Amino acid sequence: AFEVQIARTGKTIMVPPDQSIVAALSENGIDVPVSCEQGICGTCLTRVLEGEPDHRDSFLTTSEQERNDQMLLCCSRAKSARLVLDL
Ligand code: FES
Repeated sequence: AFEVQIARTGKTIMVPPDQSIVAALSENGIDVPVSCEQGICGTCLTRVLEGEPDHRDSFLTTSEQERNDQMLLCCSRAKSARLVLDL
């Protein structure tokens, strides 16, 4: 599990291993727009302000993924214990 922090409110949400970031956010009343939910379309692309994403999408290029400043919340996870998202 890891946690995501919402930059605008400071709220921190735990993401368990069996849940996507999008699902965990939704349970907490934060609805991120999604379409494919498979890391293909880019609809859920979100800026990352802190932390290291575990990229599992096929939308970003490798060099975009390596910058760690954006991620697809429908399928990607975290390598660091915490991500701060620009939400
Ligand atoms: Fe399509 Fe996340 S909803 S990439």
